[in-house]
Amino acid sequence: MTNPSTQSVTFPEGFLWGSATASYQIEGAAREDGRGPSIWDTFSRTPGKVYAGHTGDVACDHYHRWRDDVAMMAELGLQAYRFSIAWPRIQPDGTGPVNPAGLDFYDRLVDELRGKGITPVVTLYHWDLPQTLEDRGGWTSRETSEAFAEYAMAVHKRLGDRVETWTTLNEPWCSAYLGYASGVHAPGIQDPESAFKAVHHLLLGHGLATRALRDAGVRKLGITLNPAAVSPADPDSEADVAAAHLVDGLQNRIFFDPILRGSYPDDVLAHIRRFSDLSWLRTGDETLIGQPIDVLGINYYSPSYVRSKPGIEGNPTAPGTEGIEFLPAAGPVTDMGWAIEPAALTRLLERIHRDYPGTPMMITENGAAYPTGPDETGERVPDAERVAYLDGHLRACHDAIARGVDLRGYFVWSLMDNYEWAEGYRKRFGVVYVDYHTQRRIPKDSARFYSEVIRNNGL
Ligand code: NOJ
Repeated sequence: MTNPSTQSVTFPEGFLWGSATASYQIEGAAREDGRGPSIWDTFSRTPGKVYAGHTGDVACDHYHRWRDDVAMMAELGLQAYRFSIAWPRIQPDGTGPVNPAGLDFYDRLVDELRGKGITPVVTLYHWDLPQTLEDRGGWTSRETSEAFAEYAMAVHKRLGDRVETWTTLNEPWCSAYLGYASGVHAPGIQDPESAFKAVHHLLLGHGLATRALRDAGVRKLGITLNPAAVSPADPDSEADVAAAHLVDGLQNRIFFDPILRGSYPDDVLAHIRRFSDLSWLRTGDETLIGQPIDVLGINYYSPSYVRSKPGIEGNPTAPGTEGIEFLPAAGPVTDMGWAIEPAALTRLLERIHRDYPGTPMMITENGAAYPTGPDETGERVPDAERVAYLDGHLRACHDAIARGVDLRGYFVWSLMDNYEWAEGYRKRFGVVYVDYHTQRRIPKDSARFYSEVIRNNGL
């Protein structure tokens, strides 16, 4: 049971409170200081792919407003800030010479954060692959994994003396399956074999970068996953339980097992064989992928329920799920149409803790989209629904900790409204409102709420 929302809860001492963003979603300045094109520049310009043809060309203009944005974070009392580095700013073509101007931007940002007592948490890849690499096969190619490790080292060389915590990839599930299976994200490919190759080369990139960063002395290193909190619609139905197990294999165990146990699960490999001869999986790859990590990032938004329904087509995002129905949300949903169930987060964290013991975790993203804007005064953004969502999920985190889960921190998604990928700017996840005409930022009620949580280290 989740705590009733009136009971006060305190988090362990040293629990880290932050907010998160990603380069393409906030930076803008898409053609400045030598940045090369990314797959999202291409995809967002492809007719019909992104809501109203929105692009990240300007976004929140954070590339020019970073100093004010950091000041705002300090006012909110954030202890940490998770942001991503745009690979095409560092290596415009994905490989080869490093662009110093691109590194300068993050150099200044890191100094400013540290100057304000905010811990920088760097994500090396949050989906903006240099287009040149995609033209050579993107994540379906082993070359991209190797290029990623090289790029990671170029970033570390510049920032490694001031950044302690490093995340290799953000949500490789999305990069692989949304990018190469359903095609709703860049690069927009719809081919199951490519999706599985992408999973593997993303993981291999993680492994190669991890080995290099370790050798360079990094001590706090991890990856961020978005595991499915998936349950059978009817836990007493064997067919539903089998359906949930397959989905768990495709979204969860395909990542957890190689990273935390050093090998892919046999049932998942057997499933992939339906689409591919696995010739791209080489001896030694799984060992590389399975090197120890220090922290596992978990992004969680919503649960899913599946049931066996013979004859149904299956979900294009999960290749080979014919006969499995993903149930529509029952109960309240956010503006994304995503079901709200905080207890599912507690269950998910407990499950990871039980099945993959010994890995400290952090919630690297959690939050909700609601369309709320400023009230008639223009100065306040009342977003009670987001406050309730955050309250419920923070209590769910606390419940997990009370049950023994080693959870070390929480990062709200997102610091401010931003470019929500295929949904463009129409979905607002920020605790700070962004007026895209003026670029004015207005902290929402949820930002005030979150500041209080941080101040009290609890609710
Ligand atoms: C996960 C992704 O990492 C982030 O980029 C996205 O905006 C949020 N989920 C919300 O969909």
